[in-house]
Amino acid sequence: MVKIAVLVSGRGSNLQAIIYSIEAKKLNASIAIVISDVQNALALNIAGKHGIKTLFVDPNKFKTRDHFDKNIIEILENDQVSLICLAGFMRILSKTFVQQFKNRIINIHPSLLPSFPGLNVQKKALDSGVKFSGCTVHFLDEGVDTGPIISQAVVPVLDGDTVESLSERILKEEHRIYSVAIQAFIEQRFVCEGKKVIWKNEKKS
Ligand code: GRF
Repeated sequence: MVKIAVLVSGRGSNLQAIIYSIEAKKLNASIAIVISDVQNALALNIAGKHGIKTLFVDPNKFKTRDHFDKNIIEILENDQVSLICLAGFMRILSKTFVQQFKNRIINIHPSLLPSFPGLNVQKKALDSGVKFSGCTVHFLDEGVDTGPIISQAVVPVLDGDTVESLSERILKEEHRIYSVAIQAFIEQRFVCEGKKVIWKNEKKS
């Protein structure tokens, strides 16, 4: 069974969706650990309720970002995880971290990258007047939301949409495509070639 780690900072709805997929046997993985950099993150409660090991790592206890990251690296190596899934993890990970787990860290982002990287992206999508937005599963590289794109789902932006209504529509798709992408990673149904992810003739979401 492939062991994954999920890194979180907040609400944990993507974590919840991953857990449901595992429990429904749509995802052939086990979550070895859920790590949060926020002590009272709801995601930790969700993991706890499902009997998953959780750990809060306090960033304030480390002199630098690099020290924090090295601590997390050690934990993940001890747990021998094959894949690290970022699910609402709000910290930027260092080059050391990214290189340590090259092409083994994936993230879900609530826009159609490369449009709208960074934060508050549903608002940016609304303000820009785009007619479609969506979400992206991508590998992590050294940039912010710039890594090779694994899969995407498109949702319409409707007249009268608010940040909340658009976010909700996007989130529903996030929950769907993240587990599909994780299972495809496990089955090695795509490969990363430079900036691109090449699927082996298959449905991507
Ligand atoms: C999601 O919108 C995800 O795309 C972004 O942060 C949010 C996390 O939500 N990276 P949740 O904690 O999974 O509910």
